[in-house]
This record gives sequence, structure tokens and C-alpha cells, in this order.
Amino acid sequence: MQRTKVADLLRSKEIGKPFTVKGWVRTRRGNKHVNFVALNDGSGINNLQVVVDMEQFDEALVRRITTGAAISVDGELQESQGAGQNVELLAKSIEILGDSDPDKYPLQPKKHSLEFLREIAHLRFRTNTFGAITRVRHAMIFAVHEFFNKKGFYNIHTPIITASDAEGAGEMFQVTTLDIDNLPRTEEGEIDYSKDFFGKPTNLTVSGQLEGELAALAMSEIYTFGPTFRAENSNTTRHLSEFWMIEPEMAFYELTDNMDLAEEFLKYLIQYALDNCMDDLQFLSQRLQQEEKGKKDTEKSMELIEKLKFVLENDFIRLTYEEAINVLENSKPNKKGKFQYPVKGFGTDLQSEHERYLVEKHFKKPVILTDYPKEIKAFYMKLNDDNKTVRAMDVLFPQIGEIIGGSQREESYEKLTARMAEMNIPEEEMWWFLDTRRFGTVPHSGFGLGFERLMLFVTGMTNIRDVIPFPRAPKSAEF
Ligand code: 4AD
Ligand code: MG
Repeated sequence: MQRTKVADLLRSKEIGKPFTVKGWVRTRRGNKHVNFVALNDGSGINNLQVVVDMEQFDEALVRRITTGAAISVDGELQESQGAGQNVELLAKSIEILGDSDPDKYPLQPKKHSLEFLREIAHLRFRTNTFGAITRVRHAMIFAVHEFFNKKGFYNIHTPIITASDAEGAGEMFQVTTLDIDNLPRTEEGEIDYSKDFFGKPTNLTVSGQLEGELAALAMSEIYTFGPTFRAENSNTTRHLSEFWMIEPEMAFYELTDNMDLAEEFLKYLIQYALDNCMDDLQFLSQRLQQEEKGKKDTEKSMELIEKLKFVLENDFIRLTYEEAINVLENSKPNKKGKFQYPVKGFGTDLQSEHERYLVEKHFKKPVILTDYPKEIKAFYMKLNDDNKTVRAMDVLFPQIGEIIGGSQREESYEKLTARMAEMNIPEEEMWWFLDTRRFGTVPHSGFGLGFERLMLFVTGMTNIRDVIPFPRAPKSAEF
């Protein structure tokens, strides 16, 4: 008989009909007359209750139905007397597909800490929390493509191995086939990269933007959705060494159009989660509330679903970096009245404590900051007439800080090359990028959404390593 997914069976009204289910045992409990097995196959947060009449089954077989074991059950759907479910499966035959020694299986039928689950990342898909996160992550990936497809944007695959540093921050993982114990040298003693695989130094991409711009200046509206890599040594709950980024790039867009798109996009994704992932979000919300129990009321974060709706119902506040600095300089963030990193006027690079203060305490709404000092932003951003700020925009979210970074791009060949010279970026290496400004340049804009930062917000999880299946962070790449 064909397998029915647990989630479909739990919705079924076909009482009395035969079904086959397969999955992994979460728990078994009972007595010598009847046993109840909670079965999950990843299709939803709720387990199927399988009822095992002990008169019909060999006790030795039932003993093998332990937490973690995989089983196949043929049975009959019946209405359930138990609380929390409408239907259950009365087992007619049970096959053990894979045993799981209960003395050795690392996951016990109890709540494990997230720290512990990070150590057994290879098994954490089998927990309720990671099952929920995995389903929400899938839904969000799907929603990203749906949003852009509906708008007529083309998805572009940009290279993962590149020879450029899009952000100019020097935080790159080098890619080489050279023998590091025996590096070839030029006569001057420099590493001879002409002997390397590509004949020059290459690295894993930090962003697909520059290649995205090439596509946008022909296809009008494109987006990338790919892995990006940053060798920044920041061991925080919001940084990964390998993360996924969505980068739309649009010809004929100015900064305001860019902001409008970013706001519409974020609201679309959140609405999609509310429309399609409610069971999982409710589970994650309860989980979060349990974690918050010990905290003082003032430290408690907003209930998850309320928080998601709150973003949908409010226009994002838009203000300039300079206005934000004024707000921060005149604020008292805590009893001591000080930020950990003091705000020292125009030019201060905002830290996440400042960003979160603006969003959570001052405006109490998502915020888009624009027009940052050129010194703290990348070379490709459009210079304002004041000659000191650029048309940058960062979208700041509660609990996250920066969720999106973007800008209008410098479309003028003269201004762009002048800025590159100031920043010591060699023109010869960027000739292909500069060609877009030489031939048929137009105003254009784009942004990057950190997919895992979005996932943190939507799931309410607090550590970015818990919203990606296999996190990569400094000194952490188990397999
Ligand atoms: O602000 P960033 O560095 O901007 C860019 O890379 C631009 N090229 C984007 C563009 O305009 N096309 O990164 C964009 C976003 C950040 O706002 C943040 O959400 C996320 O990527 N991000 C990270 N997420 C996880 N771990 C890290 N180490 C991240 N660094 C950036
Ligand atoms: Mg940024």
C-alpha cells in the first residue's frame, strides 16, 4: 500500500479506511493491554498516535519500538479519544525498518538544550524544534522565488568562486590548489599565483552583487539567491561564515524605489509564513515563551505571532543616518544612560546595540536608515551632492538589527573611478564592472537580505546557528 504522510493523515476524515504510514518513533508509552506510539515523518509538527493492541502483537516486536527507531505501520484510521488530536491509527501490522538502541541514541524523549543539539547537529532534524525550523526555512525559500517571479524578476546564478572582493572588506576565504607547504615564488619572493589553478588569486564570493549588476544592466530586474562566505572573525549570535543571501538588483530604480521594494518584500515573506506555517510558528512561539519564563517582564520579547503581525501593520520609519545619530546622542539607553560603544557624532559605525535601540526602544517600528557617511560604506554606492554621504540604506529589525543592506549604485564612470582611486581599488581588476558604466549606464539600485537573519526573525530563535542546518562559524565546521 502507498505511504500516506502523517500530516495528511491527521487532516483525513476517512474514518475506518486502511492506511500505511512510515516514520520515526518519538515516544512509546502504555501498559500490558495497549501501547501508544507517537510517530513523526517530518511532514508536520504534530505526531500521529499509533495505537497498539498488545493482544494482537508479539511483545518482543513492540519492545523494539523505541525512540529513534524507524517503523512502517499498516492500520485503520479511527477517531481519537485522546486530547490534542482528532484521529489516530489502530495498528494491524508493524514492521521495524531500523532499530535504534535506546541506551545509545543521543536524543531522549525530553527537551534538550539548543547547545546540546548543536553538538549533535547531524540528528537535530529529528527534534520538534528543528523540524519546525526546516519547514519554515523551506517555505521562506519558496516565498522568495514566488515574490520575484510574480514581479517578473529573473533569477541569476552568480559565481561562487570569484577573483573580486565585492564588499572591499577583505574578509575572504581564499581558494587555491597551491601546496601551502611549498608555495611557488616569483624572483621577488612573492607567491606566484600564475601557477595556481586559475592563474590568479581567487576566493569564495562575499556577495553576488557585482555580477548581479552586470545582469541587471541588460535584463532590468534580477535577483540572486546563493551562498556567500565571510572570513570575519565575529563569533556572535548573528554572524555566520557561510550564509545565504538574496540580492535583487534593478535598473531604473532610485533609492526610494529600492526602499519600497525592500519593505514590500519583507512584508510578503512574513505574510507568507503566517499564511502557510501557522502550526510550526505556534509551536516555536510556545517554545520561546517557555524560555522567557524566568525573565523579568521588561526583558521579555514580544510574542512571536504578534511580533510578525506588528511588522505587517506598520510602515517602516525612514530616516537618515545623521538624524539617527542625533536621536542616539540624545538618548538614555539604560539606567547608566550609556551605550557599550559610545556614539561619537557623524562617522560612528553603528553597532547592533544602536540599531536595536532605535527599533525596539525609540521608534518601536522597523527602521530604514539612509545616507551613511561614505567612509563606512562600500565603493560602489552613489555619492550624494554633499560629497560626504552615499545613497545607502540599511533595514533594521527588532531583535536582529541589520536585516538588509543596500544602496543606489554609483552609475557615473567618473565618480566611480575617482572613488575607487581614493580607496586604492585597482581599475585593471574591475574593468568588466566599469564597462557597465562606460556603455549604456543607468541609475540602478539593489540590496541584500541575509536569509538567516530573516529566519531568526520569523522563527523567534535567538542564535543564527539554529536556523541553518549546518552552521559554519569560526572554529566550528564539524562535518
Ligand atoms: O550589508 P552586506 O554586507 O551587503 C552586501 O553584501 C551587499 N552586496 C548587498 C547588496 O546591496 N546587494 O550584507 C547584506 C546582508 C546584511 O544586511 C545581513 O542581513 C547579511 O547580509 N549578513 C550576514 N548574515 C549572516 N552572517 C554574516 N556574517 C553576515 N554578513 C552580512
Ligand atoms: Mg551591511
